[in-house]
Amino acid sequence: MQDPSLFSPASCCCLFCLLALLATTHLTMSAKTMDIINLTCEKCSRESPVFNYTFCSESLQAVPVSHFTNLQGLGIISMELALLNASTTISSIEKMLRNGSLDPFQLGCLRDCKDLYLDASKTLVDATGAFMVGHYGIANMQMSAAMEAATTCEDGFEEREGEACPLTKENYDLFQLCDIALCIIRSLSSSFPS
Ligand SMILES: *[C@@H]1O[C@H](CO)[C@@H](O)[C@H](O)[C@H]1NC(C)=O
Ligand SMILES: *[C@@H]1O[C@H](CO)[C@@H](O)[C@H](O)[C@H]1NC(C)=O
Ligand SMILES: *[C@@H]1O[C@H](CO)[C@@H](O)[C@H](O)[C@H]1NC(C)=O
Ligand SMILES: *[C@@H]1O[C@H](CO)[C@@H](O)[C@H](O)[C@H]1NC(C)=O
Repeated sequence: MQDPSLFSPASCCCLFCLLALLATTHLTMSAKTMDIINLTCEKCSRESPVFNYTFCSESLQAVPVSHFTNLQGLGIISMELALLNASTTISSIEKMLRNGSLDPFQLGCLRDCKDLYLDASKTLVDATGAFMVGHYGIANMQMSAAMEAATTCEDGFEEREGEACPLTKENYDLFQLCDIALCIIRSLSSSFPS
């Protein structure tokens, strides 16, 4: 026998309404918060032919807090992802340098890249600090400098014909993460000129 007070049509209806309400709240919330990531990535990819929308959307969505933030927050997240990337790449370079099977040209390139990435890490910390206090001009300059580490590292290997850069993916990732931050800095500084 069913308990009529628990399973009356009225309480079933209420329960259904509550579930429906929860579901829609959840849906609108995730749609709205996904929007700031995708809208930002979309706007940035319209501004630059090398900007990778998929990379942007996937990188930011992988950080749970990006779903609950604003443009400033996304800026900080992209800078921290860039810093994390640079630190991981420095460890990978150190591992590669310990590998005895590299020739002097490759060793030289890797050492240069390591120096570039070490400088870039410091610059990224400074850029994040400048960004957080709203010094967008300085943050912009420093992010551009960090981004250049990636292209300079990549170019080092291209100096010898047929040389495959072992850091192509790392360089690409750092470049794209810096490009996200730069695009966000640009849109913030155009809305709050300082
Ligand atoms: C955001 O972009 C990702 C990847 O392109 C896609 O899977 C997702 O459905 C998009 N979300 C919204 C709300 O447009
Ligand atoms: C863009 O990023 C995605 C995800 O990281 C990657 O799979 C794709 O190859 C990139 N596109 C280009 C043109 O490099
Ligand atoms: C760099 O960041 C991208 C995006 O967050 C991530 O997919 C990739 O694994 C990171 N690479 C390294 C070497 O940390
Ligand atoms: C050293 O480099 C060679 C060629 O790139 C690679 O096959 C090997 O796995 C590397 N060894 C270590 C210990 O990283």
